[in-house]
Amino acid sequence: MPTTTAIGTDAGALLEVERLAKAFSVKLGLRRAKVSAVEGVSLVVPEGSTLGIVGESGCGKSTLARVILGLYAADDGQIRFDGTPLPARKRRPRKVVEQMQMVFQDPYSALNPRASIGESIAFPLRVQGIGKDEIRTRVSKVLEDVGLHANYAGYYPHQLSGGQRQRVNIARALALQPRLIVLDEAVSALDKSIQAQILNLLKDLQETYHLTYVFISHDLNVVEYMSDQVAVMYLGHVVESCSAEALYREPLHPYSQALLASIPSLDPTKRKLEEPVVSGEMPSPLNPPSGCRFRTRCPFVMDICSEQPPALAEAEHAHLVSCHLHTSTQGG
Ligand SMILES: Nc1ncnc2c1ncn2[C@@H]1O[C@H](COP(=O)(O)OP(=O)(O)OP(=O)(O)O)[C@@H](O)[C@H]1O
Ligand SMILES: [Mg+2]
Repeated sequence: MPTTTAIGTDAGALLEVERLAKAFSVKLGLRRAKVSAVEGVSLVVPEGSTLGIVGESGCGKSTLARVILGLYAADDGQIRFDGTPLPARKRRPRKVVEQMQMVFQDPYSALNPRASIGESIAFPLRVQGIGKDEIRTRVSKVLEDVGLHANYAGYYPHQLSGGQRQRVNIARALALQPRLIVLDEAVSALDKSIQAQILNLLKDLQETYHLTYVFISHDLNVVEYMSDQVAVMYLGHVVESCSAEALYREPLHPYSQALLASIPSLDPTKRKLEEPVVSGEMPSPLNPPSGCRFRTRCPFVMDICSEQPPALAEAEHAHLVSCHLHTSTQGG
């Protein structure tokens, strides 16, 4: 397994993830096989900042999010929240559960169609044992925080637009007064103009409440707009992590370079022709390549790439990359 180092410094870190691993057991005909969805992932997210996570479908973004939130137990590794290690299998302390919230992609299915918006937002508060009056105040406040009139508490999900429903999901996450929100493709289902409104809302809320975000998206433009730091994932591993500014200016990993080269430009004169994001198919996670997992699609592949997994190591200041082109460090 490659050695992984986390970016940033631990001082002021709200979330620290160290060598996290999660595999699933799947049925293949009569036998069972292991899908390694996340392997050796380390990340540091300073309080008040946004870590973007990008990578193709199936690279393990949602699995990582769910392990961080405690929805899946990690097989290995450690998660620290505000400096405190979280138990891998036992229930997390209530305070931590409240302080880590998640917003999913599909704004409709995340809401109970039979519950009013007010009831949906109030439900987790009631579970936490918060009193009626406090709940009523909080529901009105968070609806207003996300740009909806408090009257929307009486509406039902089918009476709202997709953008409004996603605002409600954000309100529901906010109601518990979290410190960390994991947003998994939270704007991907929305039209571009609505997306922009929700992204700006998220930025405003971050500033007002000093929120920390883990922002997952396959849309590299959106990730650039939102993120302070970015981690690029490939087949369960982080292959590059650095500031958003450094990644978009000078990506070092051949995979990041290919991903970024295929971003459709917002400038019509520079718009690229349709081209594959990265040539070739992503290998099956059931049977990942030896050595570097990207080698089967890498234009710069060398002999060492099939022999040794590259370590995720600092190639430039605070810029980590896991590629034999950039580091002479051996995989551990
Ligand atoms: N519950 C599960 N059981 C078995 N395999 C799973 C499960 N959840 C995820 N996987 C597998 O783990 C790998 C990572 O999946 P994951 O959903 O984390 O990817 P992702 O990066 O979020 O993809 P997408 O961009 O499509 O949402 C995939 O190979 C997937 O098939
Ligand atoms: Mg996903």
